[in-house]
Amino acid sequence: MVATLEVLERRRHAARLGGGQRRIDAQHAKGRLTARERLDVLLDEGSFEELDMYVEHNCVDFGMPDQVIPGDGVVTGSGTIDGRLVFVFSQDFTVFGGSLSERHAQKICKIMDMAMKVGAPVIGLNDSGGARIQEGVASLAGYAEVFQRNVLASGVVPQLSLIMGPCAGGAVYSPAMTDFIFMVKDSSYMFVTGPDVVKTVTNEVVTQEELGGAVTHTTKSSVADLALENDIDALLSARAFLSFLPASNRSGAPELPPIDPWDRLDESLDTLIPANANQPYDMHELIRKVVDEGDFFELQPAHAGNIIIGFGRIEGRSVGVVANQPMVLAGVLDINSAKKAARFVRFCDAFNIPILTFVDVPGFLPGVGQEHNGIIKHGAKLLFAYAEATVPKITVITRKAYGGAYDVMASKHLRGDLNYAWPTAEIAVMGAKGAVEIIFRGLSAEEIAEKTAEYEARFANPFVAASKGFIDEVIMPHSTRRRIALGLRKLRGKMLENPWKKHDNIPL
Ligand code: HXC
Repeated sequence: MVATLEVLERRRHAARLGGGQRRIDAQHAKGRLTARERLDVLLDEGSFEELDMYVEHNCVDFGMPDQVIPGDGVVTGSGTIDGRLVFVFSQDFTVFGGSLSERHAQKICKIMDMAMKVGAPVIGLNDSGGARIQEGVASLAGYAEVFQRNVLASGVVPQLSLIMGPCAGGAVYSPAMTDFIFMVKDSSYMFVTGPDVVKTVTNEVVTQEELGGAVTHTTKSSVADLALENDIDALLSARAFLSFLPASNRSGAPELPPIDPWDRLDESLDTLIPANANQPYDMHELIRKVVDEGDFFELQPAHAGNIIIGFGRIEGRSVGVVANQPMVLAGVLDINSAKKAARFVRFCDAFNIPILTFVDVPGFLPGVGQEHNGIIKHGAKLLFAYAEATVPKITVITRKAYGGAYDVMASKHLRGDLNYAWPTAEIAVMGAKGAVEIIFRGLSAEEIAEKTAEYEARFANPFVAASKGFIDEVIMPHSTRRRIALGLRKLRGKMLENPWKKHDNIPL
């Protein structure tokens, strides 16, 4: 018996060594942790339960039968984060460069299937040279099996991808279909074809980092949501992030014991809006002063800064925040900001997270570039996302809410549950000057100025909309948190269903 136990211990030890000490040292030399070290940081201490530790590849070509490493390049199983169950896979670069074989894929699929059955998030730690070249089409089949599960799991359990090394070729498409992607700076990259292929096909010369590094994907392409400094930073951020997410679409938003008083007033908000309507202010200040303990987990902070998205809590319960940012492009809606916010709104709706919208938007961005690149279709994404969302929706208009953008930003007409405005709100079909120039065409400059002042006095306020019931109440800025907390309490039992359909047809 003792001898048998020793055999098991030896087998476990061999599996834990992965591709061997030399390759582990090489991984460390690159400033990266190994697959198992990453899981140690990600999960609660001692909570990881591994599955399929002895799975081996089944490749018979290229001398592969002589190169069998237990676990086959991916560590899979489950564990907890702050005591909550998650399923994980962590690719082991020390084993065939973390490349994906048929069996490697089967291991990932197994934990995805379990996660969907029990209703728990899936976190993938990606560090892989792509398809296991020795296996050919079997590896492609493995990828497709994973892709299929990504799609089936979408909207059922949250899926988070951490990119912690190479991620190239078809391998990028599994993370791309997950809900969120975090990348490690200067250590990870994602591209469909690498710099060499790019050079051959288009003659463009580009580095890996420029083509698909963390900065590129969190500023230009928006493929990724966050760029973190190193492995530890990324893993700890993932832990913090998970605390905002429900386990599945069957559970409500998670709740922490509330510490911050729900009725905390903040007098400083009464002077947040500058006297001059064209002067910007930082919408982050409002968000931080409203959410519990100022704790706001922002996503895509470096992309389309004219809209802010992220998670916070009110009375300990998660909320998704969407806010126009007057500091960037005056908070205008454009293609990138509409796409950024639309996907976020849909995530919140899929996972029962109430949506809090702060509005200060002068309208849609005019321009040939915007029109030719499809602002109509992309702007419609956000409109569509808000309109289909059935979770509690609370909207606060702080200043501008002009034109179509007023409608889009979770207005009453898109089934906003509670629509508040600050006394500084200006809710109108368009800016005063533009409106007057159309209504009173042909007047002198002096007359236009006079009419503009009249128009502003008449329409640049929240009371016209409030008189029609489009704004439920004009609130004091200092009581915003209190109003939102009360609103969310009221809306806890909200029940709203869209008409039956197979699925909708959002303008993609
Ligand atoms: C098998 C692989 C591998 C792969 C790396 N290795 N990639 N083995 N299949 N795809 C092995 C290497 O042979 C090496 O083994 C070890 O992993 C580490 O690789 P290195 O090249 O030494 O590491 P590094 O210099 O850091 O370079 C990493 C790399 C490079 C950039 C990822 O290995 C690389 O370019 N690999 C090939 C990438 C690729 O073309 N993949 C297929 C894409 S096609 P030893 O024994 O020396 O340690 C694809 C299609 C999927 O993915 C489509 C799905 C729809």
